[in-house]
Amino acid sequence: MENTEELKKQLEYIDKLTDVVTGLKDRLGRTPKCAVVTFGCQMNARDSEKLCGILIKTGFDTDADETDADLVIYNTCTVRDNANQKVYGHLGTLKARKKRQPGLKIALCGCMMQEHSVIDNISKNYRFVDLVFGTHNIFRFAELLYNMYTSEDQIIDIWDSTDDYVEDLPVKRKYSYKSGVNIMYGCNNYCTYCIVPYVRGRERSRDAKDIIREVEKLADDGVIEVMLLGQNVNSYGNGLTDGISFPALLLEVEKVEGIRRIRFMTSHPKDLSDELIDVMAASKKICRHIHLPLQSGSDRILKAMNRCYTKESYLALCDRIRNAIPDVAITTDIIVGFPGETAQDVDDTIDVIKQVQYDNAFTFIYSKRTGTPAADRVDQVSEEFAKEQFNRVLDAVRISAGTRNGILTGKVVEALVEDISDNDPSMVSGRLDNNSMVHFTGGSDLIGKIVPVKLINAKGFYYIGEMTDSI
Ligand code: 5AD
Ligand code: SF4
Repeated sequence: MENTEELKKQLEYIDKLTDVVTGLKDRLGRTPKCAVVTFGCQMNARDSEKLCGILIKTGFDTDADETDADLVIYNTCTVRDNANQKVYGHLGTLKARKKRQPGLKIALCGCMMQEHSVIDNISKNYRFVDLVFGTHNIFRFAELLYNMYTSEDQIIDIWDSTDDYVEDLPVKRKYSYKSGVNIMYGCNNYCTYCIVPYVRGRERSRDAKDIIREVEKLADDGVIEVMLLGQNVNSYGNGLTDGISFPALLLEVEKVEGIRRIRFMTSHPKDLSDELIDVMAASKKICRHIHLPLQSGSDRILKAMNRCYTKESYLALCDRIRNAIPDVAITTDIIVGFPGETAQDVDDTIDVIKQVQYDNAFTFIYSKRTGTPAADRVDQVSEEFAKEQFNRVLDAVRISAGTRNGILTGKVVEALVEDISDNDPSMVSGRLDNNSMVHFTGGSDLIGKIVPVKLINAKGFYYIGEMTDSI
């Protein structure tokens, strides 16, 4: 539920924090600098935009580099252990800097902070960290930061769950023309390898009218592309009294004037309905891209993962999608090295890759997450075996993506210009409807515009193109 009382309270804390930051500015003789470092997924990226909104509103410069900021905030991820290790690595470096610069403040938030073992470790071994909060109380950021600046002690505030949302606080979008929109929080699927349901809580859908109001506001503010975000968008609406489904929500978002592109992330194959495929096929605004995590192609492993679909039903779903939307790009996530996985299981995964012909796939080596059912299994596979199998999968992904990349060569398509190209300042980078990138000659005046581009040739995952007058 949206909590208006809490909103009022947090707006008061924004005022109080502004006074603190003004005092800090007087002492430093310059604007205090903050770096928000984001790990992990789109949800975290969106959360960081919320943190930056409050930081800017209260007087911080949020463009600072981590190495010279007065306040460093790590918005952490814990899906795989290497994400946790990265944070500890960064903290080691900051500890040395804090000795030289005692005024430096350090805050930690995000999924990793929802793990009890992490909090134990930080409260015992990382006393130099000033503030720790979690995913459920991020809307209290202004209050927490105010408390941090007015106290000498380490502040740790972690909630196990919440039913409240406070959505109308300031947000600083990274891009002026596109934005993520949370449509739901948490996850109920309990895939046996995954820590997300434990750190993000049970699934809660936002009311459709609140979502539409947010999209309308974004459109008024110049946003032309929205990405609807949830761990499993296809189960949107479960538990809501008005019972609206995800396809019905998409139709409502589509009506918002000014919004020209709609994306969504992530789809669970077990919940992707034919209704959704029909809505996508008929839509002029919903982008031709579905991210459809496979995880494994082996029925045995899928069952052990609690994914609730089979190789056959997954392939049939992809067929239905491709038949209804021929130009759709399908991408996926794959885990290699799940406990008990054999080379034959991986053969099945490779078979699916060959049959579906993914446009791209993110492949991960299984990471044991304490507290998940898979972590207790005695048949964990060796690192060496997992790496070998991982390389086999990677080769298959490269071949499949290789045949898909370039299929649009010669066509004129619309691209939303996102940025100046990283490699060549005389070029810009644009995103196609199917999520591929194209680089072409152009200037910063094009950023945020949708323009027609002729795709001249394909280079790996991207195209080189040329702007034209019309489609
Ligand atoms: N080990 C490896 N990969 C994982 N993912 C989730 N949990 C784990 C884990 N324990 C991957 C899944 C998911 C993506 C976001 O992260 O492929 O789709
Ligand atoms: Fe994790 Fe499965 Fe939920 Fe995705 S659907 S967040 S993999 S539990």
